Amino acid sequence: QPASAPGLGHMSAESSTADVSQPLLIAYGTQTGNAEMLAEKAKAKAAEIGIDARVCDLADLDLAALGTTTRLLVVTSTYGEGDMPDDAEDFWQALAAPEVGRLDGLTFGVLALGDSIYDGFCQAGKNVDARLAELGATRVVERVDCDVDYQQTADEWLARALPLFAAATPQQTGSELADEAPAPAATVELSEAGKDVTEKAGKPARQRKSTWGRKNPYPATVIANTVLSGPGSAKEVRHLVISLGDSGITYEPGDGLSVVPRNDPALVDRIIDRLGVSPQTPVVDRKEQRPLREALLHRYEIATASKYLVDYIAARSGDAELTHLASTGDREALDAWLWGKDVLDLLNVDESLTITPDELLAELQPLAHRVYSISSSPRAHAGTVHLTMATVRYRSGERDRGGVCSTHLADRIADDETIGVFVTPNKSFRLPPDDAKVVMVGPGTGIAPFRAFLHERAERGATGDNWLFFGDQHETCDHIYRDEIDQFVSDGLLTHLDLAFSRDQEHKVYVQDRMRARGAELFRWLDDGAYLYVCGDATRMARDVDDALHEIIAEHGGHSASAAQDAVSQLKKDKRYMRDVY
Ligand code: 2AM
Repeated sequence: QPASAPGLGHMSAESSTADVSQPLLIAYGTQTGNAEMLAEKAKAKAAEIGIDARVCDLADLDLAALGTTTRLLVVTSTYGEGDMPDDAEDFWQALAAPEVGRLDGLTFGVLALGDSIYDGFCQAGKNVDARLAELGATRVVERVDCDVDYQQTADEWLARALPLFAAATPQQTGSELADEAPAPAATVELSEAGKDVTEKAGKPARQRKSTWGRKNPYPATVIANTVLSGPGSAKEVRHLVISLGDSGITYEPGDGLSVVPRNDPALVDRIIDRLGVSPQTPVVDRKEQRPLREALLHRYEIATASKYLVDYIAARSGDAELTHLASTGDREALDAWLWGKDVLDLLNVDESLTITPDELLAELQPLAHRVYSISSSPRAHAGTVHLTMATVRYRSGERDRGGVCSTHLADRIADDETIGVFVTPNKSFRLPPDDAKVVMVGPGTGIAPFRAFLHERAERGATGDNWLFFGDQHETCDHIYRDEIDQFVSDGLLTHLDLAFSRDQEHKVYVQDRMRARGAELFRWLDDGAYLYVCGDATRMARDVDDALHEIIAEHGGHSASAAQDAVSQLKKDKRYMRDVY
């Protein structure tokens, strides 16, 4: 048994048997609320098998608090290219500090959330997992890495992992499970040095950060909201100017603005009608009581249906098609079925089904804020943030539907109303030194951060050359920010501009085709130290641009395919190939 740390004398080795009966600590790091919701689910599942658990935000957990913990379940998402969620960054810094004490008495497991589109898939969870082990903590169960579609994987892992935590308690020692599980944990040992880290840091993490964040967004005013796309466009792209007022918010070009949306009241009211209750019905929403209508407006995703709700409705209704879809594990088929269906559609799978508001809320995802790449430069557009946003509108099942946040901003903000915002920094998408060359590939609304970059470089008098690849469907109606871009060209800031209007000729022409056509020069730029940025659609555009980049390097550098691959990896490592894709 490890000795307890000096200064943490109440946790002597002898008292360790009592300590292991302490609650399991489920600590979450969340960017959008999913990890938080999973943590709450884990707590409920733990209770079902007799484990008392406590849920805590990593933002509120300092290492000294870990000192009174013997069992830790970390649920964390990953943000951007492998970063910790913003709120959990301080915890990670403290844990990663070289002088932190050992954690021999801790048993732990990590549930990592991520998006395999990104290079640093589940990296935050991987880092925490590796660091805890490195500090001597005992892994009760192998980490699980969950992709965007995390629910089933997470559920299965929890079903496996939680009993192992139970096995670590003294009550179950001697059972079969206890043999597989590590010895009952004793205490967490924190050296004085480790304690210093947290004490020096002083106040709890959140108070040291910008006051505006996920839990406390700044109520901002939208001071301009215009449509950039012209008549005949298939899209509705808007330019929004949001005032930062006296918030004290600052940002860097490349950062994102998180916007806290509100659901469409019309859909909320239809769901309430379907439940057959009063809008004022009190519901318990993550420990707080509030009226149902308010909870549905502000707190839950209702424009899309969660897999939890699918399972629930399938089980309750016995609907054959849904039961089949929910049980086969064929996610593609389920996603195809779910496309264009919202919570109301799911409830109406079986119109005879009676569901209470609390039952429904238990199956819904928390309403996530949406992050948009900022299209303004703090130097050129002081006191404001500009967004370049396509309004998502579509029709399905005889109803007009839309993106929660984009339609909220486009259609539903009253003149005297504010929207909740906060800056989500994007450390892996920053401008290089002023004398460096910059290549920007941003079709559609992917142009947003590059408008910011160009304005910023103009203000700074940056001397490095700039090259923009932009495109969209039609030049007449989709050539957004045309006047500004033309001005940048005539000012000599934008030395190279290549446009790809895909539908203005018989054959599709995309930005990657323009890149290939300019391959020799593009290769020279990269060879010469240029920085390459890509922003926009992740699934098709960014992938095809990446392919084109490999080909260009192979062809013009005289490289084999595998040497070109190494060259691209090196560009990424050198932070000269950066992507902000979604
Ligand atoms: P399309 O709609 O005519 O196919 C911005 O949305 C632009 O990106 C549009 O011109 C669109 O063309 C184009 N686009 C669609 N798929 C793409 C891909 N795989 N790579 C690059 N651009 C693409």
